[in-house]
This record gives sequence, structure tokens and C-alpha cells, in this order.
Amino acid sequence: MHRSLQYFIVNAVFPLYEKVVMSLRPIKKFPDPVLRQPTFEIGEVDADVRKLVGDLVETMYAKNGAGLAAIQVGSLTKLFIVEASITGGDANDHPIVFINPKVEWFSPETEVADEGCLSFPGIYVPIKRPLKARLRAIGLDGKEFVAEGEGLYARAMLHENDHLNNKLLIDYVGPVKRQMIRRRLEKMSEEEADELQAQGE
Ligand code: NI
Repeated sequence: MHRSLQYFIVNAVFPLYEKVVMSLRPIKKFPDPVLRQPTFEIGEVDADVRKLVGDLVETMYAKNGAGLAAIQVGSLTKLFIVEASITGGDANDHPIVFINPKVEWFSPETEVADEGCLSFPGIYVPIKRPLKARLRAIGLDGKEFVAEGEGLYARAMLHENDHLNNKLLIDYVGPVKRQMIRRRLEKMSEEEADELQAQGE
């Protein structure tokens, strides 16, 4: 994504009177123990939370991610973002911010699709998930909203919500594949991880 477009989108997330300095944050790669630590509800959507969202947006775009949870950059908060093209928006829309999300409903119909994760660079595994899902969360404006998605949108919300409950992509595979993924990631250099992440998730 072009850099100026990126900043246009990011700025749209914040009120014009507020200057938010965004920083690229390193993404925690499995088996970093942070990914298994409990997350906590956010009490108030304040400047710190807005800064965190800015960092997440910056980091997600830099890595071509479809979504990113705060815990993946080491913040143990119940917060994630999902990229706009997945939520039915276009390239000019800002990502949807989910604060303290709750899964309210999901469909009995399921779908299997390959899933990736920025904490598992270059790893894709087929995961069966509900075809549709509805989540209730707080937005960046502090107001409650309901998001209902189908297909990739439902999958992205449920994947990111899993992160807040410490459930990871690797938990969906059998023991042999789990061992393979673990070995692959333990051997992976930061450079290789960077390169793979640049290809998107
Ligand atoms: Ni992930």
C-alpha cells in the first residue's frame, strides 16, 4: 500500500485536533510467551488507547496484515483491529477497531479455509470456523457497536478474538504438524520472518 494513502487512512481514525504519533512495533512471533498471557479489559478509551491503535494500524499496514491484536505487539489489552477491505469497506476506509469485544452469536454453518497470522510468518493452516459471526465491542469513539460478518470478515474477527483468549493458529492442528510449525519458527531468523510477513497474512 502506498505510504501517503496509508497516512490518509490512519489520520481518518483520529479527530483532527489530536496529533497521534504512530510507531511501527515489532510483532511477537510464536513461541513468544507473551502470546499466552491473559489480556485485560480496557477501562476508558483515552490517549494511550488511541496511541496503541495508531501503532497497530501502522504495523498492520506495514506488514500487509488483514488484522492485528494488541497482544501481538505486547500490549495485554482486549483490543484488535481488522482491515477495512475485509469488513466491506474500500481502500479509503480506516480499519475497524474492536475494544473489549464479545462474540454474541455465530452461525451453525461452518467453512474451512487456509488461515495465516503475523505471529506465524509463512505458516498457513486450514481452519474450520463459523461462516457468520456477530461481535459486540466498543469503538475508538467510546461507543458500543455490533459487527456482523460473513466469510473472511467473520473469520478475521474470530481469529483476532482468539488472540485475546490466547488461542493461536497452532492450537487448531494435530500434534505432528504442531511440532513441525514450532521447529520451523524456532529456527526462523528475524530477517526471514520480516520477509515472510511482508507478503501478507
Ligand atoms: Ni493472528
